[in-house]
Amino acid sequence: MKTIIEPFRIKSVEPIRFTTQNERKELLKKAHYNLFALKSDDVIIDLLTDSGTSAMSSAQWAAIMNGDESYAGSPSFDRFEASVRDLMDFKHIIPTHQGRAAEAILFSLIGGKGKHIPSNNHFDTTRGNIEATGAMAHDLVIDEGSDPKSLHPFKGNIDLDKLVAFLDKYGENVPCIMITITNNAGGGQPVSLENIHFCAKIARSYNVPFIIDACRFAENAWFIKQREAGQGDRSIKEIVRDMFKFADGMTMSAKKDAFANIGGWLALNDDELAQNAKTKLIQTEGFPTYGGLAGRDLDAIAQGLKEIIDEDYLRYRVRTNEYIIERLDALNIPVVKPAGGHAVFIDAKSWLSHIEPLQYPGQALAVALYELGGIRGCEIGTVMFGRAPDGSENQAAMELVRLAIPRRTYTQSHADYIVEVFEELAKIKDDLKGFKIIEEPPMMRHFSAKFATVI
Ligand code: F0G
Repeated sequence: MKTIIEPFRIKSVEPIRFTTQNERKELLKKAHYNLFALKSDDVIIDLLTDSGTSAMSSAQWAAIMNGDESYAGSPSFDRFEASVRDLMDFKHIIPTHQGRAAEAILFSLIGGKGKHIPSNNHFDTTRGNIEATGAMAHDLVIDEGSDPKSLHPFKGNIDLDKLVAFLDKYGENVPCIMITITNNAGGGQPVSLENIHFCAKIARSYNVPFIIDACRFAENAWFIKQREAGQGDRSIKEIVRDMFKFADGMTMSAKKDAFANIGGWLALNDDELAQNAKTKLIQTEGFPTYGGLAGRDLDAIAQGLKEIIDEDYLRYRVRTNEYIIERLDALNIPVVKPAGGHAVFIDAKSWLSHIEPLQYPGQALAVALYELGGIRGCEIGTVMFGRAPDGSENQAAMELVRLAIPRRTYTQSHADYIVEVFEELAKIKDDLKGFKIIEEPPMMRHFSAKFATVI
């Protein structure tokens, strides 16, 4: 059969509350046009994030009942550790309450003033945690990765020439090389196995640890299987193990590719660094056999990791994005192509070209999608990345709106509805106005900034 169907049945449902366009107009005003300030009950289709929003399986809920809440030595930790190690064979696996806690611990140990940390693209919390220590975060993605129209199969790859030049320039002041798989900030685009291995090789030759930000590792592995020469016949598990085999560590948000509602981990091979990380963990998160999580959460992750590498799931997962992208493309709406793993990205700079980048076309589009259809997406552009640590503002490389698709949560008719909202929006998009920021915090402003329309 050609139709790729949802590879699950639905046993438990959550009702969606419908709002009218007039109600949403008022709600937007009250939220100062920041979609993070909306109540989720006022959202019809919530595509703000794919993080922590997955539908867990019946096997995960059953595993939750087996959670052991002992402070130390819980068997839930053993199951969690075994499940992680089955895919990523690191010496030390340190649970945290989510991905950013793993980042905070890692960079508190290896960051600091004068340090420079490269990646393909750092995600916002990673950048925030690096900059909070006084270090600088640098994005070295290949040029195609910043071109929404490029059809490069691995637009998440790091530019290896730039990486070598970077290491030559900053020498001793580079405490690690990172790579984000898939490259969330760059459109959910994958990194090839070859690029990961080259990165590891370069890191080794400069004696710098190589750390993978692995939130969406299974989606990345699926793309490797589909697109990389010689990988088509390998299992997802084999590819995943290969992706991590030369890395020195990883940070992970189990809220993505582990189908959990909370959780994460930091994994390291270096004994001394791991010891220091565990000390920090005890200070900030909890004892190393629970790390800020309940035992039941560890069991949900352990089970989720077994399910995430299922090929029927990954095929359906990526097909959902492709389906929406193909239909938007047919309507001449500029989307980032090829389809990424976890989200559909719309190129707001090109679609709303009448709005200046410093008047945030991505924000204008995200607000319009909510007002018209109750769909909540997220700007990934100048609002998110435009403010430098010194307070100056520069336009971001791309002005995207991300519609992140929660795992196993929405069905094809939800996807059809999303497309229909775009169809309607296309009729009025030239009348949309830009925004200005009227209040913002010094860092990670997109979460709490207040906006006003530019008249
Ligand atoms: N790294 C990447 C690539 C991420 O996408 C995220 C989270 C994190 C690290 C941090 O993990 O949320 O568990 O602390 N991304 C979410 C998103 C929030 O919406 O893309 P966390």
